[in-house]
Amino acid sequence: MRTIIEPFKIKVVESIRMTTVSERKLILKKAHYNPFLIPAEDVLIDLLTDSGTAAMSSKQWSSMMDGDEAYAGAKSFYRFEKVTKELTGYRTILPTHQGRAAEKILFQVAIQLSKTLSPVIPNNTHFDTTRANVEHVGAQAVDLPCKGGTNPSLRKPFKGNMDLEKLENLIQEVTPKRIPLIMMTLTNNSNGGQPVSMENLKMARKIALKYKIPLFLDAARFSENAYLIKIRERGYSNVSVASIAQQLFRLSDGCTMSAKKDGLANMGGFLGLNDPAWIRLARSLLILTEGFPTYGGLSGRDLDALAQGFHEVLDEDYLKYRLRSIEYVAEKFIKLGIPIVEPPGGHAIYIDAEAFLPHIPPQEFPGQVLVAALYETGGIRACELGSVMFSRKEEGTLAEISAPMELVRLAFPRRVYTQSHVDYLVEVMQDIVKHKQKLRGFKIIRQEPVMRHFTAHFCPL
Ligand code: F0G
Repeated sequence: MRTIIEPFKIKVVESIRMTTVSERKLILKKAHYNPFLIPAEDVLIDLLTDSGTAAMSSKQWSSMMDGDEAYAGAKSFYRFEKVTKELTGYRTILPTHQGRAAEKILFQVAIQLSKTLSPVIPNNTHFDTTRANVEHVGAQAVDLPCKGGTNPSLRKPFKGNMDLEKLENLIQEVTPKRIPLIMMTLTNNSNGGQPVSMENLKMARKIALKYKIPLFLDAARFSENAYLIKIRERGYSNVSVASIAQQLFRLSDGCTMSAKKDGLANMGGFLGLNDPAWIRLARSLLILTEGFPTYGGLSGRDLDALAQGFHEVLDEDYLKYRLRSIEYVAEKFIKLGIPIVEPPGGHAIYIDAEAFLPHIPPQEFPGQVLVAALYETGGIRACELGSVMFSRKEEGTLAEISAPMELVRLAFPRRVYTQSHVDYLVEVMQDIVKHKQKLRGFKIIRQEPVMRHFTAHFCPL
């Protein structure tokens, strides 16, 4: 087999400041063992997120020079609108500064127009900002991952799917009136970055139509999902990824998009809508909070970078390289006996920290311990997706219910790192495997009541 090479050449570089283990020990302590509090300059390989961290192409940079900064009706907007409308088929595209701004407007519109008193929003799994925005408008966010979807070691092709039996039961239990919309997250980021199959989305569409409930996509990683459909779902191997992506969007009534992922740009997003009443209200809210509808919180040059990015992200050579590099890390980790969410999805490797560090109970945050070890050992920054991020307070008591999984996410920025960066990561993990018995749990010594993972302070036990 031939090596699948990075399908690009590097034109501009950014240097990495090298650090030693003893320097990193001090940096970590100063950051209270929370990687969000480490200055980026002190990180060797930054796998905290794949959001807003992509390297743009020379074509994107040159298109930015042509950015039209007119307040209303800029040429950049029309270029952006053309590409996103062709991709999604929606009647209206409202640009926003990032995904959560689109979420905020969507849920406000949905709740206001549905006029229900206790709304419920089902999703295969809400991303944390999505859940926060749902709860912010007084609705209940319900996660319905498919059977086996939360079992890290189970090898099934579409573990991002929604449990449709549970969806239908929920609709019947609470009545369709209380569900202003159903949402599907592609790929399912909070659930291991797993893809949703076309079949699952089609079935969800059927149920949505049966009960007359709009179906929305959280489409942040739509092209990675489309590529995984091409290579994993029967009947799609000869269909282009662009066409699969178009089909996915056309099964829905609208979407929220964080374009910081598959838009291949550093900032941006949009809200896509079909319903005229929703469009009218959303447009007013957009003007109130983001900006005029032809820029919505973005510069003209940002819109141009996105128009080009949405085009490049459907290039199958790029997607083949992207998915292969994730799979490459997965193969190496599995060989080292590191338990990961299998099979890997499109943007990240998720290590099952509970299985990797069985001597550290969830109450002592094994994921956070591994995140700290990755930084100290190799200067690698990762993100905990476990009980630090997702635990809940038991009603009426101070007790904490741990998250269903204790994961550590290594998210790969698009087109940023090369194979030797990845090989170095594997070496660092190999080192951690050798001394993992010595790792000790953490306790939280300071935290905020919401989204505590961003700012919490930890202390080793
Ligand atoms: N939906 C999903 C599935 C996401 O992964 C994110 C962001 C958002 C919505 C919100 O978009 O950041 O543009 O406001 N995910 C980032 C991450 C932050 O690291 O996974 P945003």
